[in-house]
Amino acid sequence: FERTLVILKPDGLQRALSGEVLSRFEQRGLQLVAAKLIRPSAAHLKQHYWELRDKPFFTNLVTFMSSGPIIAMVWQGTDAVAIGRAIIGATDPMDALPGTIRGDLCITVGRNVVHGSDSVESAKHEIDLWFKPAELVMWERCCHDWVFESPSS
Ligand code: GTP
Ligand code: MG
Repeated sequence: FERTLVILKPDGLQRALSGEVLSRFEQRGLQLVAAKLIRPSAAHLKQHYWELRDKPFFTNLVTFMSSGPIIAMVWQGTDAVAIGRAIIGATDPMDALPGTIRGDLCITVGRNVVHGSDSVESAKHEIDLWFKPAELVMWERCCHDWVFESPSS
């Protein structure tokens, strides 16, 4: 199974969107395997956003992301990374389609409510950065076969 790291950003939590955001992943059919409410340090966020270090908005991004608590989550399922990105929508909410989290719930790129890993590779790296292996919970979900068709032989 594939996994993706999703973060409810400080704006999402402040705006009481946590239930709404979690519902969208849950209702689509992905499975929650880890979650924690934390206030991340600037140092941790610099590691998380290392690839964006030369961008003009980098400092603002790190300051904003460390400005309050966030919820870090790991969601699991077939194509979890791509499905997660589709649920979230385009980076700039002005370009995000209605029906996506960013298309429905926010307006500006610097307050876009959620983070989602952008590839299977970066998902692995990000999950390692935010969670210890023991924090990932293995559990059988009763609706598994109602969401995922088993591959035919
Ligand atoms: P994440 O899921 O949060 O990683 O967003 P993304 O993958 O859609 O975008 P990217 O990784 O390129 O950028 C990370 C975050 O930086 C975005 O979610 C925005 O909050 C912020 N960001 C990206 N581009 C801009 C920009 O042009 N201006 C500003 N102010 N912020 C930006
Ligand atoms: Mg990104």
